[in-house]
Amino acid sequence: MTIREEIERRRTFAIISHPDAGKTTLTEKFLLYGGAINSAGSVKGKATAKHAVSDWMEIEKQRGISVTSSVLQFTYGGCCVNILDTPGHQDFSEDTYRTLMAADSAVMVIDGSKGVEAQTRKLFKVCAMRHIPIFTFINKMDRDAKDTFDLLDDIEQNLGVFTCPVNWPIGSGKDFKGIYDRDSKEVIQYFDTQKGTKEGTETRVPIADTEKIIGEIGQDAYDKLMGEIELLDGASEAFDLGKVQKGELTPVFFGSALQNFGVEIFLQAFLRMALPPTARRSDQGLIDPVEHDFSAFVFKIQANMNKAHRDRVAFMRICSGKYEAGMEVRHVQSGRVQRLSQPQQLMADDRKILTEAYAGDIIGVFDPGIYSIGDTLCMPKENFRYEGIPTFAPEHFARVKQVDTMKRDQFVKGIRQIAQEGAIQVFQEYNTGMEEIIAGVVGVLQFDVLQFRLKSEYNVEIKLEMLPYEHIRWIANPEEVDVEHIVGTTDMKLVKDMKDRPLLLFINPWSPQMVLDRNKGLELTEFSKNNTFENI
Ligand code: G4P
Repeated sequence: MTIREEIERRRTFAIISHPDAGKTTLTEKFLLYGGAINSAGSVKGKATAKHAVSDWMEIEKQRGISVTSSVLQFTYGGCCVNILDTPGHQDFSEDTYRTLMAADSAVMVIDGSKGVEAQTRKLFKVCAMRHIPIFTFINKMDRDAKDTFDLLDDIEQNLGVFTCPVNWPIGSGKDFKGIYDRDSKEVIQYFDTQKGTKEGTETRVPIADTEKIIGEIGQDAYDKLMGEIELLDGASEAFDLGKVQKGELTPVFFGSALQNFGVEIFLQAFLRMALPPTARRSDQGLIDPVEHDFSAFVFKIQANMNKAHRDRVAFMRICSGKYEAGMEVRHVQSGRVQRLSQPQQLMADDRKILTEAYAGDIIGVFDPGIYSIGDTLCMPKENFRYEGIPTFAPEHFARVKQVDTMKRDQFVKGIRQIAQEGAIQVFQEYNTGMEEIIAGVVGVLQFDVLQFRLKSEYNVEIKLEMLPYEHIRWIANPEEVDVEHIVGTTDMKLVKDMKDRPLLLFINPWSPQMVLDRNKGLELTEFSKNNTFENI
């Protein structure tokens, strides 16, 4: 196969949902169809989303890859599919956001009885920011679900995207009879015998065969279905692949992952509609996945995956070309040319050493401590950067103090490394060195993780002193203003981030505006400038 053919058959997507909507179950069924596993129940890690903090810490200590996002690859219908699994736990959300940056499309799993939930709303915002196609699977139709029109309305209202049902459920719960496929105009009947198999009997009856349909699903269900189809054909957005691929319209599918119903139909349609890797923006224009030689960016760093070796793995998304074993690449941010050491592919809990990989694939590389999230790798002869991964504004801040001042070096090293991984953000007083360290996090659980990891991985004990700040603004034009003489508010604190960029912390939500009013020419932004996507 040529490099072009290899790349064009790749489909890389992230699977997102609110915890418990059925993401793990659906992933497992995909793998079953792809022949990557032989029986249901072999994908590990779904329990992690449900663990209480204390349990979770224990898991975090062991650092199984099931805790954070893992990558699964399988082949189906000639396509090479990469699924980026995302942890459902709320406090892992930043990690999930980054994973979405590495995906070309997203599959959103929604529980039919619950509709759009908080976590989905948040994740969706990131997909929308990237304009990636989103495919919706409304799951658990074997349980009583909300009214179908209400579910679609919920998605449109909450997520601001148009919906186009590709198929339509006939009842739900005990009365679930199957789905109506709008394209082929057939009813695909549901029998609850398909659980755990990939064969599953699938019976299709044309809707035009009225007598047979009524015989199978009953007069009431038939009448309701016909009414709904009429309404749907008149009211719903027409299917438009162009809009789907721009993320403006989400195709919606219904089924039951647990009962293995509607899953293969969804997978087939998804592979037909989703795009292979497309060009990505860099500081030197668009980088075409096929025309360009190897390039990649780091979207995630995970330390201590193997406790015995204290290793750090940098996960990279290949954006163009082909990776070959032993290849030399340029790490743009450090300017170094190096060999990628033992790239791996991670399949659930297994790792395998890779000899080749293509644009669209994810590889894990041992990191001697040089990579940061968002870094670019390219061929030695080239020197461009992919646009950064946005850092989400922390909402909680704490002063971090070490208990034993003798361990200063380990403390600084630990804090730096954990910050490089993107688990926390670190700020310092604007004019001093590392004397005072302020950690900022999106979810408070990350503070516990920081404390725990510094103790277990770096043998450093810390005390956290919570600070009242809740709002953060980077100074967007530090070269144009006198940063040290900004006229502030009483609740303001001037600090700098790890890259020495100045920023302001505030207690009150109205203070940033007051500071803007008091300082002509000052520009503030909620995201650090170098990390910003144009359209945030
Ligand atoms: P998540 O990864 O999104 O968190 O969800 P997961 O797949 O773990 O599913 C959450 C629960 O919902 C599981 O039940 C799972 O069996 C169930 N489930 C998933 N899909 C369906 C479906 O289509 N229909 C029905 N009725 N249930 C579904 P659990 O009791 O928490 O786990 P288990 O004891 O069944 O393993």
